[in-house]
Amino acid sequence: MAKPTLLAIVALLATAARLATGFTPVPMYGQSAVLIQDTIFVYGGYRRIASKFVATSNLYTLDVSQPWTSANPPWVDLTDTTTGSSVAPQSAFQTMWPSADNVSFYVWGGGNNINQSLSQNGFAQYNIVTKTWSIPSTVVNIPLQRRKLSASWTSSGVAYMWGGVGDWHTAYTTDQNALHAFDDMITFDTKKLVWNVLDIIGQKPLPRMDYTVTMLHNGQMVFIGGTTMQQPNVTVVTRKLAPMEDIPIFDTNSATWKQIYATGAIPPVRLMHTAILSTDDISIVICCGQNNTVSFNDVAVLDTQNWYWTIPEVEGNGNAPSPRMAISSIFVNGQMIIFFGTTNWDALFNDVSVLDTRTKSFQWITGFTLSPPSSPSSSPSPSSSPNSTNTPNGPFASEGIIITIAVVGGLLVVVIAILIFVITRKPLQKHVQTESSDDTSHVLVSVQSQIQASSSDILLSAQNKPDQPDSAPRSHLDLHTGDHLLSPLP
Ligand SMILES: *[C@@H]1O[C@H](CO)[C@@H](O)[C@H](O)[C@H]1NC(C)=O
Ligand SMILES: *[C@@H]1O[C@H](CO)[C@@H](O)[C@H](O)[C@H]1NC(C)=O
Ligand SMILES: *[C@@H]1O[C@H](CO)[C@@H](O)[C@H](O)[C@H]1NC(C)=O
Ligand SMILES: *[C@@H]1O[C@H](CO)[C@@H](O)[C@H](O)[C@H]1NC(C)=O
Ligand SMILES: *[C@@H]1O[C@H](CO)[C@@H](O)[C@H](O)[C@H]1NC(C)=O
Repeated sequence: MAKPTLLAIVALLATAARLATGFTPVPMYGQSAVLIQDTIFVYGGYRRIASKFVATSNLYTLDVSQPWTSANPPWVDLTDTTTGSSVAPQSAFQTMWPSADNVSFYVWGGGNNINQSLSQNGFAQYNIVTKTWSIPSTVVNIPLQRRKLSASWTSSGVAYMWGGVGDWHTAYTTDQNALHAFDDMITFDTKKLVWNVLDIIGQKPLPRMDYTVTMLHNGQMVFIGGTTMQQPNVTVVTRKLAPMEDIPIFDTNSATWKQIYATGAIPPVRLMHTAILSTDDISIVICCGQNNTVSFNDVAVLDTQNWYWTIPEVEGNGNAPSPRMAISSIFVNGQMIIFFGTTNWDALFNDVSVLDTRTKSFQWITGFTLSPPSSPSSSPSPSSSPNSTNTPNGPFASEGIIITIAVVGGLLVVVIAILIFVITRKPLQKHVQTESSDDTSHVLVSVQSQIQASSSDILLSAQNKPDQPDSAPRSHLDLHTGDHLLSPLP
């Protein structure tokens, strides 16, 4: 057999082995995630090294063109471990959005625990085809680095970002007690490659951090939860947990704000939760988060036609995520895939949970599936309010079969390749081994943080964990006039 063919087979086998075994991500929180085509990309976040929380440039992917179990999701590690030359920012609580052509994604903002501003404010681009990072050349009007905000984007490829905070994590200030609330609405046009700060006419809501934002198909951005921020002077920000019925909407068509007050079964206040727009394009499903003392793993649904909250019945609670915050979620084929996060900054997670929303009672299921929902009562997606319109999601069934055929076909190719390989007896060990790598960039980060050891030890003591809403957990929550007043960040 010709050598090139042999090499090609070995390469194919190495890929197959990587896909089959799956990589185990490090436990982390404060990462960002986007879905591009059939792949979930997860970027950044804090991991723990010794007792320190370290912002990472970790890049993981999770394939959703195939079914998998939560016990063994096919994670792939694409972290750029080239030292010195890597442009991937080490950041947590950044924003992330795809380009209009689905060929790349952008990251921007976020922060770290080493008082260092990020190069180009954390703005970088990753090409998913060439698997390379670059620094976009369009940095005119690039906004100041900030964190704890989220992006949402229109189908025409314009990302919108609002709120967030500047503090020592973003090198906005060296005063550990100072905070700056950002209240501008920023856009990045991924076609024209232009940053912009929008001129807003009319009323604006109080800015927020640690919220979720969901872009509806009519171009309205729906903000849920988090904390509102008021800035009486340059250093002080007063934060309050936003009531879950208090829903600011930004209309991207008219560049105006409006205020909605939702009714129904209002879920408990929370921050650092996660949200997705369901199959019906109407229901926003939220999960998890924390209320400054207690972490949650509950589920609630907001009907954005009637602005009505419901608490759905949820089955399979044995497969539910543990209560947590600073998590991510991606919605695929009627399933909300939820991963990573932390409970009260002690336990950090690297696991994946799947909430099937295609049945009348939602179900926590044992893994991601391409097939139609199993019992109970296969009924259309979230019946979120008594009078909401439900759209059946029939197409998924046939789509599932086609994908299954594709997967089976793919497996067949791999099996044939293995047979050829066995016949030609080329050792494969080496290729497989490199995939279970420990991440060298982490080692470097670790070394870097060692250098700052004395000061960062203080910063990361129990009193002052990296992204705690409050410097002293539990004791700092003042309930002034039942208003969920939070004291400032550290
Ligand atoms: C990019 O992906 C989105 C979401 O899947 C899709 O709606 C859009 O048509 C895609 N755009 C291109 C240019 O492929
Ligand atoms: C800022 O406002 C806070 C609360 O109103 C006050 O305690 C503090 O002294 C003010 N700081 C400055 C520098 O004005
Ligand atoms: C947080 O949740 C716990 C448990 O439900 C509750 O006892 C507490 O009052 C909540 N705190 C706030 C600020 O809502
Ligand atoms: C939807 O249902 C809620 C609760 O039953 C009701 O308050 C609301 O008026 C209804 N909205 C419409 C548009 O029918
Ligand atoms: C960050 O800056 C503050 C204020 O200058 C200082 O007290 C702290 O030690 C610094 N932390 C690190 C990790 O450099």
